[in-house]
Order: sequence, then C-alpha cells, then structure tokens
Amino acid sequence: MNASPPCSSFDIDDMQWRWPGSAVIKRLLDRPQWWMGFLRRYWPIPHVPFTRWAMVTRFEHVREVLAQEQVFQVPFDRRMMELMEGPKFVLAMQDSPEYGRQRLQIMQAFRLEDVAATIAPRSAELAEQIVAGCSGRIDAIEDLLTRVPTLLCRDYYGIDVPDPKLFAQWTIAVSTYVFGPPSDKPGPKVATARAAANGMRPLIDQAIRNAKQGVNPSPTIVARLVAMQKQSAGDPSDDMIRAELFGMLAGFVPTNTIASGNVLEMLLRRPEFMARAQEAARTDDDELLWRCLFETMRFKPINPGPFRECAKDYTIADGSSKAKRIRAGTRLLVSTQSAMFDERRVVEPKKFRPDRRNHEYMLFGYGLHWCIGAFLAGAQITQTLKPLLKKRGLRRAPGRDGQMQTIGLMPAHLSVEFDP
Ligand code: HEM
Repeated sequence: MNASPPCSSFDIDDMQWRWPGSAVIKRLLDRPQWWMGFLRRYWPIPHVPFTRWAMVTRFEHVREVLAQEQVFQVPFDRRMMELMEGPKFVLAMQDSPEYGRQRLQIMQAFRLEDVAATIAPRSAELAEQIVAGCSGRIDAIEDLLTRVPTLLCRDYYGIDVPDPKLFAQWTIAVSTYVFGPPSDKPGPKVATARAAANGMRPLIDQAIRNAKQGVNPSPTIVARLVAMQKQSAGDPSDDMIRAELFGMLAGFVPTNTIASGNVLEMLLRRPEFMARAQEAARTDDDELLWRCLFETMRFKPINPGPFRECAKDYTIADGSSKAKRIRAGTRLLVSTQSAMFDERRVVEPKKFRPDRRNHEYMLFGYGLHWCIGAFLAGAQITQTLKPLLKKRGLRRAPGRDGQMQTIGLMPAHLSVEFDP
C-alpha cells in the first residue's frame, strides 16, 4: 500500500542559493586550496571580526577541536527538531548513554556484513542496468549517482518510494537545511525543508506499519528495527525507529550524491586521477578503485568541514605560539578539508596517492561522530561509479549539460558521454 505524497507545494529549486555573493562563495569553495593554504600559514584560526564565527584550518587544531566533543558540540539539533519532533538522532546529540544506545542500535540494524551481502551486489546490479540502458550519454548525477542510493532506500531500507526523483529531492532538501550553517533562527529555507520532511514522514510510518504486519518478509532495515522492538519490550519505540530512519535517510542519498558527484567532477578535471580509477575499474580491483575514489574525494570533499558550537571558553593549541582563546557561544567551521592538505602532517598533500595512510584522512569525520555509514557509502559509491568508469571515451557532454549544476553545494546534474 502506498502513502500518497502530501506536499505538492515542494520545489527543490527553492533550496537554490540566490543571495548576493553566493556565486563568489561557490567559486571560493570550489577552488579553496590557495586561500586555505594562506590561512593555515598566516592566520590558522581566523575569527571573523564582530561575529561569533571562527574557522580552524590546521590538521592538529582540527583534531583537537573534534576530539573535545563536550566543549565543541554538534549544532544540528535545533534544525532537526524543526523538521521532526520526537527523539533526537545521533548526529544531533552530545555524548551520553542515550547517544551510545542509539548508535549501537543503528549499528545492529545496519550491519557490516550487509556491505558484501546486499549493498555491493545490489548497487552493482542497479548501476550496470542503468548504464547499459543509456546509449552513450547520461545525466550521471540524477540518473545514476542519486538514483542508485534512492532505489536502495526501497530495496535495503524497506521504504516504499513511489516517486524516486521526488523522494531523493526530499532527502536532499532536509539534509541541506539541517546540516547547513547553524543559526538561532529558522533559516529562510525552512518551509521547503518542512514540506520535504512532511513528504518523507508518511512513507516512513507506512514502512513501519508494513513491517509490523510482515508485509515484506525480506530482512530490511525497517523490519530489523521492528524485530528489535518486539524482542526488547518496545525498545526502540516507534518514535525512535522513525527518528533513526529519518536521520539515516537524510544521511544516505544526499551525502552519497554529493560525495560521488564531487568525485566524478574531479575525475573529469584531472585526467591522471581518471586514468588510475579507470584502470582499477577495468581490472575489477574494487579495493584499489575505492582507494582511488577516496583519494579523489580528498580534493573535493562533501563540505569544507563540520560545524561546531563552543559550549565553554577554551584555548586551542594552548601553550603554543598559535594558542587561540575561543569564547563560549562561538560557532566554528572545523575545516577537515584544509587539514587534509596541511603539509605539516600530511605527506605530499597535493599529490594523488591512493596508497595514502588512513590516518591522514578526515573525510568521514574524526572522533565521536565518525560516520556510521562509511562502509555502506564506500561499497555503494564504488559499485555505482564502476560501470561508468569501465566505459571507453568517458568525457563531459558538450555545452552547459557537461558542466556540474548544483543546488547550493549539492550536485544536481552533470551529463557525460562515452563510446557506445
Ligand atoms: C561518502 C559518503 C559519506 C561521507 C563523506 C560522510 C561523512 C560524514 C562525516 C564527515 C561525518 C561527521 C559529521 C560531524 O562530525 O559533524 C558523518 C557522520 C555521520 N554519517 Fe556520514 N558520510 C557519508 C555517508 C553516510 C551514509 C551513507 C550514511 C547513512 C546511511 C551516513 C550517516 C552518518 C551518521 C548517522 C553520522 C553521525 C554519526 C554520529 O553522530 O555518531 N553517512 N558522515
């Protein structure tokens, strides 16, 4: 039984950046290494005058801030609550027994063994079908990189997705709003994000009802959470299952779209990265392919870094010449992107090195909130890009279609061509 989407007023285009200066900001974020390098050297912890905003740019300082999770707290709860009442989701919570319980519950539902058993083979199957079905040209973002994770919401999560394109847009609107720069007031895009959340909620509720009635006997994520509830005297509650699904959907389609979209854009910009990735794809060396894609992502990650809010006065790099007092109430952009190019701690940061050591990466975060979906993301993105990368003559489509179009920073369209 399908729940019909109740939010006809939703238009993803409303999430577009249209404020003065947004084109300049986009350009600065698209090619940030020159100004990030300047800051790392001369002003490593800039504080924007007359505001409560600061940025952290050096590798060691970024790690210090992300490791002090009681001082530098995640600021996502206000916006998440605006969209979805009820229990908080892990990424909106500070460290606590409740946080630990929820994280464990999510890990018991999203199991590591699913990567080999379900995620990788199903992603490969869907991506191969899509690429085989197009004759030498595809909008790689909308029709492949967003489509595959959206269809996994149906096949793996167990959410009925009557309109995959609209469903993907809902998750993108929610994620863009919740994980955007924090603010005390509702953001200007709140109505669109609310409409998106209102579209997602009935589908989640329906999936929970279906799982309780045993409508879909396959072991989906919803079915596992409902089974846990039966086995543990109502824990997780329906509200908690809803919050976990909502968060894990908002973390899945948008994040994997932006990650894989940015990777494809970088591969098209840098022929030497593309050649290495294509070689790994053609020899079916999935591990090497993922390392090539992961290293490519370092050059264009999902964002410049996570936001944090300082809960009490704290001195970063205390005792050093770069010591900087941060006042309670300051908001920080903790730039993992800048940190991963810090020559003080990263070996040959400007070089493409798929054999780079893991501790030089912070693409999946650092510390308490380290990404819970990292393994799922790696398998899905590798298998989705692989059939495209196997194609000979892979190139941008001519004209505007072959240039990345975004909604805010989220990749929306990028057409590529290949030899049939
Ligand atoms: C390549 C794709 C992905 C990247 C680059 C990525 C990156 C990140 C980063 C940087 C964080 C830390 C955020 C912070 O500290 O504020 C994070 C946390 C998180 N990610 Fe991902 N992510 C990806 C895919 C996914 C997927 C597919 C899911 C879900 C299915 C997911 C779910 C989460 C959750 C729930 C957290 C919060 C964990 C916690 O608070 O304990 N992510 N991710």
